[in-house]
Amino acid sequence: MPTHVFGGPDTPRKLRCLQEYLRAFAIALRNQDFACIYIDAFAGSGTRTEVRPGLPLFGSDLAEPEEITTAGSARIAIEIDPPMHSIVLIEQDASRFSDLETLASAYPDRKIILRNGDANELVQRLCKNIHWRPPGTIGRGIRGVIFLDPYGMEVSWKTVEAIAATKALDCWYFFPLSGLYRNAPHDPAKLDPSKQSSLDRVLGATDWRTRWYSLEAAPTDIFETQGTAVRRADVNRIEAYVKERLETAFKGAVLKPVRLHHKNGAPLASLFFAVSNTSSAAVKLATDMASHILNSGRSSQRRSR
Ligand SMILES: C[S@@+](CC[C@H](N)C(=O)[O-])C[C@H]1O[C@@H](n2cnc3c(N)ncnc32)[C@H](O)[C@@H]1O
Repeated sequence: MPTHVFGGPDTPRKLRCLQEYLRAFAIALRNQDFACIYIDAFAGSGTRTEVRPGLPLFGSDLAEPEEITTAGSARIAIEIDPPMHSIVLIEQDASRFSDLETLASAYPDRKIILRNGDANELVQRLCKNIHWRPPGTIGRGIRGVIFLDPYGMEVSWKTVEAIAATKALDCWYFFPLSGLYRNAPHDPAKLDPSKQSSLDRVLGATDWRTRWYSLEAAPTDIFETQGTAVRRADVNRIEAYVKERLETAFKGAVLKPVRLHHKNGAPLASLFFAVSNTSSAAVKLATDMASHILNSGRSSQRRSR
């Protein structure tokens, strides 16, 4: 079976947040009259392989690198007990999609819907059929969780808006800080049109240009000064801007994210949790569960540094 190698030292923490939330969500909603759905928009293969470098042996030899394979988000969701009523797994890559088919066939008692294609297109289409129903209306309402776990800048803002508009989905979004960094260099001369449009597409806004960059007066001669733009916003300001953007879409709540890092300590991504539902009971339940999980994610991060 091909292996899916991805992530870094903080990936287990990200997957633990998802697993703990799905467990708490499934238990909390077990006896309520909702159809519970989980959508994994960037589902991968169902497993994650980590390659650990070989340890030094006697002399200068190194042992063979070690491959360790653990459950990825799709498998974690399938194994949640009590189970979700439906699990939607979306994956664009053909080989990883075929791994998902094999994985799903091992769980005939779970309702697993597989879609091979572009997450933005499929999630936007799916969200049109997912709506929260206020208590007292006829029929079963839907409540669910969606996980956005792209490699980089793949999630378009239109997808975020579609999720928020359901008022039924809680969203875990692994937001690519390092992608923003790469696309918004300190020197705006390197900010080519394709990088700019990639940022516009992910953020759904254009004001980052003025919010992140400022003019620095550089004297050219005794008569005039020439302004040069430089990026002043550091990673904290960029993350705060992303939170502000998410708050414009998710009217329930957007929690302070957990920051995840590369092996070399550089910021990799921020794991955001956002609630689309605006009913106070739903917001309280979701944010109580997620805050607890994010806070323990933050304290385990402090311990490991
Ligand atoms: C970081 S991996 C996801 C890992 C997965 N959540 C797990 O825990 O095992 C990102 C996945 O998104 C897939 N992908 C990238 N762009 C996509 C797109 N536009 N639509 C659907 N899947 C996409 C990649 O093929 C890759 O498998």
